[in-house]
Amino acid sequence: MKIPLDRQSATPLYLQVRDRIGHLVQVGALQPGERLPSIRTLAETTGVNKLTVIEAYSVLEADGLIYARQGAGYFVNRPTTAPKLESTFAPAQTVIIPEAPGISFFRLYTASVQAHQQGMIDLSCGFPHPPEDLQRVSRRAVAQVAETLFNYDMPEGQLTLRKQIAQILVQQGLEVSPNHLIITNGSKQGLSLAIHYYVRPGDWVIVESPTFHGALAILESLGARVIGIPMTAEGMNLELLEQYLRSHRPKLMYTISTLHNPTGLTTSQTHRQQLLALAQQYDCPILEDNAYEGLNFEPVPPPIKALDQQDWVTYIGTFSKTLMPGLRVGYMVVTGKHYQPILERKLLQDLHVSTVSQAIVSEYLASGHYRRHLSKMRTKKLKVLNSKLKAEKDKLKEIK
Ligand SMILES: Cc1ncc(COP(=O)(O)O)c(C=O)c1O
Repeated sequence: MKIPLDRQSATPLYLQVRDRIGHLVQVGALQPGERLPSIRTLAETTGVNKLTVIEAYSVLEADGLIYARQGAGYFVNRPTTAPKLESTFAPAQTVIIPEAPGISFFRLYTASVQAHQQGMIDLSCGFPHPPEDLQRVSRRAVAQVAETLFNYDMPEGQLTLRKQIAQILVQQGLEVSPNHLIITNGSKQGLSLAIHYYVRPGDWVIVESPTFHGALAILESLGARVIGIPMTAEGMNLELLEQYLRSHRPKLMYTISTLHNPTGLTTSQTHRQQLLALAQQYDCPILEDNAYEGLNFEPVPPPIKALDQQDWVTYIGTFSKTLMPGLRVGYMVVTGKHYQPILERKLLQDLHVSTVSQAIVSEYLASGHYRRHLSKMRTKKLKVLNSKLKAEKDKLKEIK
């Protein structure tokens, strides 16, 4: 197997290898059970370092596309992709500028928590499957930080955890130093910090329509004026976006680029490039919320932040959707001159994220449990998705 590589591309080589093999699996050129070339062979035929192949194979493994058999090499997994359905997503392309405050976020949030506790299905946001080994990992984590609990921590969060998050982000194509990371109390705090940094009362802000109600609530309480640009099957309608960037000169654009809440859409690399180009052209910073990162069934393009050379994008992530929302551990990537003022705001709000919560996440990442957990979670979610789709199809057949 020879993999064509573009050495001038901004996409790292291991992601190009991953994308190519992922594509061959999707189109059936590589069949389930088929053995992939050994790491050495692929490195030689493709002209890359063995580490590049190792990294590409481990991302494909974490994505559930291939699996390793000890001593025998890597093999193509059974198909794990969701069935491709014809998109019927065609909302009215009308820009929404709400005049009156919407439903109170307090009422929505508390009702959602109560509903979830009573076993109801809450479609307003995602919930993780409980990770295994929680007790063992937590005990080890607490033992490790026991001494430091008698002190305060740094506002940016623990260096070990920031290094681990930086490594995860590198695998997604976003090269970032731990010095650009701030650990936050969930991604909700990251959203709030960024919005309060960029936006003043009365400013216009662009959001996708529909979007995550928690972000709308922050904008509303700040007195921002919101422009909802409708989603198309590709993401935000870029033509309409440009019109409103030109006419309203908004101060911030909020986008959920991967597994958008609530539509589930992931934007393409081209859409991401175009969005960033528009942001630069009209001086409008981007707030990229990637709360559902790691839950994708198929490979996704690197985040918009990975394309950003001039600090236009603030990137937000969280462990709420993959590990435990109750830990309240999220993070933001902030580069350039924006880092220090945002960090100082974080300090004013709550000093730092709980040392115990940070240590538990860190221990999960260190032990390798996290990767396995993500992989299992994706498989479980895919099974649920497929059985729900089948049930819906059967129901539709009955109606016909
Ligand atoms: C798109 C999006 N962003 C952010 C959040 C907030 O998550 P957390 O603060 O738990 O990290 C959610 C939660 O539902 C969400 O759906």
